[in-house]
Amino acid sequence: MSATERSPEEPDEPGFGDAPPALLFQVTYCSRVGPGVDDAAVDRLVATAREHNPRFGITGLLVFGGGIFFQWLEGPREAVARLMANIRADARHESVVMLSESEEVRDRVFPLWDMELVAADDIRDVLEDALSSALDSRSEATLSRMLEQLDSGVLTPLGGA
Ligand SMILES: Cc1cc2nc3c(=O)[nH]c(=O)nc-3n(C[C@H](O)[C@H](O)[C@H](O)COP(=O)(O)O)c2cc1C
Repeated sequence: MSATERSPEEPDEPGFGDAPPALLFQVTYCSRVGPGVDDAAVDRLVATAREHNPRFGITGLLVFGGGIFFQWLEGPREAVARLMANIRADARHESVVMLSESEEVRDRVFPLWDMELVAADDIRDVLEDALSSALDSRSEATLSRMLEQLDSGVLTPLGGA
């Protein structure tokens, strides 16, 4: 099943009663994989993320390939900011570069993925699929920018031109 399949009538973060739906914070970054970090280390990292993220309402994806990480994180503002601070300090990577930060996003792009490990070869298809079903204009803009960055070579190790 596609990661982005869901009914457009159902907002991801419904409000209670008349309260407006909770807004989400969405960040993307890339970083350089640290020395000695191999497939097994990344599998352990993803296992931790899958255990941790549902407790904090965080979803997203992680790409590992060509010596770099690329990650998409979305969830409640405080939870994403706290996790991002942890991730920045994590010795398993270095040179973290923020690619996007979007406030006030209404709908998740990857509602079903606690933290999906995506192969570098698949990232373009995943982003294109997400763009075709994105419900939120901010998410659309971010996804378009990520695809442009793949084309422009910024993310070349992740399967760019
Ligand atoms: C590239 C990368 C991505 C990560 N993604 C997540 C994540 O999505 N969720 C998570 O809980 N930890 C993630 N981590 C691990 C965190 O940095 C941290 O080790 C983990 O949250 C455990 O924190 P704790 O020791 O405070 O419990 C990631 C680490 C790296 C290097």
